[in-house]
Order: sequence, then C-alpha cells, then structure tokens
Amino acid sequence: MQPQSLPPGPRFKPVQTWRFLRDPTRFGLEARARHGDPFTAPLPVGQVVMTGKPEGLREIFSADPSVFEPLGGLPLGPVVGPRSMLLLGGARHKRERKLLMPPFHGERMRAYGQTLRELALRAAAGLRPGEGLRAQDLTQDISLEAIIQIVFGVQEPARVRRFREEIVPALETYTPLLMMAIPLRRSFGGVGPWARFQHHLGRVNALLHEEMTNRRGHEAGHTDILSLLLSARDEDGQGMTDEELSDELRTLLLAGHETTAIGMAWALHYVHRQPETLARLREELAALGPSPEPEALARLPYLGAVCDEALRIHPVVPVVGRRTLVPFTLLGRELPVGTAVMASICLAHASPEIYPEPERFRPERFLERKYSPFEYLPFGGGARRCIGAAFAQYEMRVVLGSLLAAHRFSSPPHAADERPQRRNVTIGPRGGAPLVYEGPVPA
Ligand code: HEM
Repeated sequence: MQPQSLPPGPRFKPVQTWRFLRDPTRFGLEARARHGDPFTAPLPVGQVVMTGKPEGLREIFSADPSVFEPLGGLPLGPVVGPRSMLLLGGARHKRERKLLMPPFHGERMRAYGQTLRELALRAAAGLRPGEGLRAQDLTQDISLEAIIQIVFGVQEPARVRRFREEIVPALETYTPLLMMAIPLRRSFGGVGPWARFQHHLGRVNALLHEEMTNRRGHEAGHTDILSLLLSARDEDGQGMTDEELSDELRTLLLAGHETTAIGMAWALHYVHRQPETLARLREELAALGPSPEPEALARLPYLGAVCDEALRIHPVVPVVGRRTLVPFTLLGRELPVGTAVMASICLAHASPEIYPEPERFRPERFLERKYSPFEYLPFGGGARRCIGAAFAQYEMRVVLGSLLAAHRFSSPPHAADERPQRRNVTIGPRGGAPLVYEGPVPA
C-alpha cells in the first residue's frame, strides 16, 4: 500500500494515538480543521482513513458488506470469543445476524417494560435522602441486571446474584492494559492479570453452559432472548451450538451492558446540570401520574429527546472501524485493498453545520428537526448496525422515566461539568456523573 495515496493527516504515531485515545472528538475536529475530511491518522492498527462527513458515512454504511471486514477484532477477542458476530465477516456474520436479530425487534421490547421499570425502582429503593452517588454506578447496576434477566432469562434471585458475582470480576479483570498489550495475554505460571481474567471468564462460561443445558428443550413459552435464540434456526434448519451461543451471549453482555449504562449516566448528568431541562422533563413525567406505564414512557417526546441528545453529545462508541477487502472510493478518493477506514460518529455529532452549538446539551434540537441516519448515528449503520439499538433506546426511556417520575436527584454543589474519558472501546463520564439523592417525589 502506498501511504502517499491516502488523504493527508496528522503525523507522529505515538502522539496521535495518545490524542485519539484520550479525546477522539477533539482529535477529529483538529485534524479536520487542518487537513480536511477525509484525513488519515497514524494509529496502532496502521494508517486509518477517517471521515465524519454525512456523505462519507453514507458511502461506508451503504457499501456492499463484502467490501469490508471488521477492524477492531483484537481488543475484544478474548472476552467475546472467536464465534462472536463482532469479529466475524462475510457469510458467517450474515448468518449470525439473521439468527440474533429477530429477538431484538422493536415491537418485542414491550415484553420487557415491566422488568425494566422494576429494576430501576429497586436500584433506587436503597438510597437515603442526602446521600451522594455516581449515576453510572446506579445505571450500570440496572443495565447488568437487565442483561441477566432479559437477555439470559435468569430470574430466580439467588441465581441472578450468582451471575452478577461472576460477571463483575470477569469484566473488571479485563483491564485496558490487557486489551491493548497483547504480549501480556499470557499466564505466568497461573498468576498475573491474564490468569486472573481467564479464571473469572471460565466461571462465567461455566454458568452460561449450565443455563443452556438446563433450558434446551424447555424454551417454548419463554420471552427472554436466550430462549428465543435456543429455538432460532438458520436457512438450512440448523440451530446454534452451545459454543456459538456462549460467544454470542458474552457479546451481548459486553456490547449491551456498559454502553446503555453510560448513555443513561450522561442523560442524568445533563438534566441535573440544567434546571430548565429538568423542569420540562418533570412536567412531562408528572402528566403521567406517579407510576407511569413503560409504554407511556417510551412515547414521551421530551424524554426521548433527552436520551437522543445524551447519545449525540457523547456517543458511547465514538468510532467504528473497517478494513477494505476490495478497492473502495471514499469521497472521491480511491483507497487500495487493505486500507483501514473509520466512520467517526463523534465527529459527525460535533459538526456545527449539522448541530449548531454542538457542545451544548439541547434536547430541543431533536424536537425541532429530523436528522438523517448519516448525521445522527450513535448505533453505527449498514450491515453491522447495532442489533440492540431498539432495546437500548427502550431501556433508556423506561429506566430514566421510571427513576425520575418517582425520585428526585440534584447535581452536587460546586460539581463541574463532566468530561468524557475512555474506558475501553467505550467512552464515559470521567467521574461517573456524581449526583445527590434528594428523596421520593412528593405525592
Ligand atoms: C446506548 C447503547 C448502545 C450503543 C451506543 C451501541 C453502539 C453500537 C455500535 C456503534 C455498533 C456498531 C459497531 C460497528 O459498526 O462495528 C454496535 C454493534 C452491536 N451492538 Fe450495540 N450499542 C448499544 C447497546 C447495545 C445493546 C443493548 C446490545 C444487546 C443487548 C447491543 C449489541 C450489539 C451487537 C451484537 C453489535 C454487533 C453487530 C454486528 O456486528 O453486526 N448493543 N453497537
């Protein structure tokens, strides 16, 4: 590949890598101002051509799926496993999507409304007035429980607890260092960070296999996602093996748990920083009475706009990467086979020509106009668009609506605006979005 055939961009790999990892939005805005869009960035995966222009994003996401393979396999591979749809390309990826997508269809989400509402209310039930908390701890508790109960279909309280006790250390021991430094992924005589992670991951896998064994053959009449996946068949009438299912269940856990929690934490942060936003949201919620039905919450326009704006201002997945398998033309430039390409979601969302005053949290912008799928794309696009998008959007609305209809929170005095910080592949609020619990909403 001739690097000179790629668009211009910033140089000096270590500096750019560090800047990109720290703040991909600012990195993108500065590179675009100096070099135009698309630009090329030197990153650990090699030279990466990036665009945040709706036209460029349309070209990437509308291309035939055979044009690209996934780029970011390595960092996530150890958690999700080799049969995960995140890592697959071509016909195998298509088959997995066909099997996994039907349970996530928007209409199906209604079956989960009451569970989500109960999870939200239960998580807030232990709070005492005046107590400080991190919004992200609260939302992460809720979203993990949502995966265990709704996706894995585990409902018996002691067993839910067991899942939680095994999953939390497995995710915590997969540190950013292990994710980035492949030489560290070795067991040094059964000790060290890799061995610890493998130990916990093994325990999660054992639980998942136990669950599949117990449930196979008894899935009829159950609405959870694992039951639906156990009975799913591909075009040849084949179901998924336990190994395939186990990798996909860990994929759903990884892709669906922290992402949704971060989106909800940002929303809670901003509504409590802006009195007029909170007042408008409370007014909308109050009209539904003290314990609104999930379906009614999912339809509230302002609550929906708050959730959309939270994923706009800080997209949880800032960029998605691909590698070209055939020559590909991006915004008039011929890219050779093997070129790494990134769709910069965060750059599109920070573009003032699409979003005036992009750094302001202003849910009203979603009530004033509609954005195209290449201007607003927190869930990516095309053949690899997030399959959990409807689930995440429904969960955010029902959980935030249930919490704020029943409870009052405030922003701690003297707290500063939260800054985004990279967690792993996701970016979340650096301080976890601190709040103070004020007490239940007065009757
Ligand atoms: C606010 C929450 C979420 C955000 C912002 C988000 C974002 C994304 C994005 C940007 C992608 C595209 C990756 C790419 O193009 O390479 C993606 C893919 C994916 N997401 Fe989500 N996601 C969220 C919640 C969820 C949930 C709740 C689930 C499931 C429980 C889920 C499951 C997946 C899966 C399986 C893929 C891979 C799709 C494929 O490779 O074909 N996500 N997500």
